Amino acid sequence: MKKAPHGLHTVHGWVLEAERIAVLSGAGMSAESGVPTFRDAQDGYWAQFNPQDMASERGFRAAPQRVWDWYAHRRAGVAQVQPNAGHVALARFARAHPGRLTVITQNVDGLHQRAGSSGVLCLHGDLLADRWLEAPRACCRLEDAEPGSPPRCGSCGNLVRPGVVWFGENLPVDVFEAARQAAQGADLMLVVGTAGAVYPAAGLARLARQAGARVVVVNPVASELDDVAHGVLRGTAAQLLPQLLEPGAGRPDQETP
Ligand code: OAD
Repeated sequence: MKKAPHGLHTVHGWVLEAERIAVLSGAGMSAESGVPTFRDAQDGYWAQFNPQDMASERGFRAAPQRVWDWYAHRRAGVAQVQPNAGHVALARFARAHPGRLTVITQNVDGLHQRAGSSGVLCLHGDLLADRWLEAPRACCRLEDAEPGSPPRCGSCGNLVRPGVVWFGENLPVDVFEAARQAAQGADLMLVVGTAGAVYPAAGLARLARQAGARVVVVNPVASELDDVAHGVLRGTAAQLLPQLLEPGAGRPDQETP
């Protein structure tokens, strides 16, 4: 579908008008911090690995050490990077306009929070959190887990797994419900750095549109949510979000095609 030529200036106007803004972010949000995405053809994780091997309970049970070590590598990676100008612009806007902006993220890297965003709705969990593979018994205490790859309960052998949502698993119910409400209550949804290929997260953009929000995609290339959007800004999160959200931004001379 051909998009109306809404540029940065127009979308900046929509930001100013909106009483409630929801941001749906994905891996591209953190790309300029140096965190790899999943589906980028050259350097996305899923160009290297099969998601069913590395991001499913079955994959973990089949090769716990391989999967644990991959998450340990990703944990070490995010510990070395910093939030980028896009994360910072969102956090600053929310601080300057309390109650107006909700960040809903598919990211597990914690960079929104490290930039100062509060109340971030983490649909896919937290890369840095641990939890038990099996329902924990009285003997299972994360702080006492025997170190290993993965760590395990010294009494019953229950394995520790990363606190992220894997394929085939449900999103945390309360977080998803809050995200649904934020999407439905928004006047404007910014869809930043997601391919829009994973549901139910991507469905939040469709829900926002159905509920009457303007939807804007921020992505350097085409995404599966472009057809939902009233405006598509072709550029990166760290370039465009400061221009959209910071005071004095979006002047006509900054118009993008
Ligand atoms: P993807 O890797 O599928 O998509 C990343 C998107 O970011 C692509 O559309 C890129 O074009 C875009 N992009 C790249 N660099 C960008 C930049 N600097 N600024 C803005 N956009 C940029 O990542 P997600 O859509 O987040 O789930 O993937 C969704 C889920 O699939 C992830 O949460 C993960 C994955 O499997 C689980 O692990 C459960």
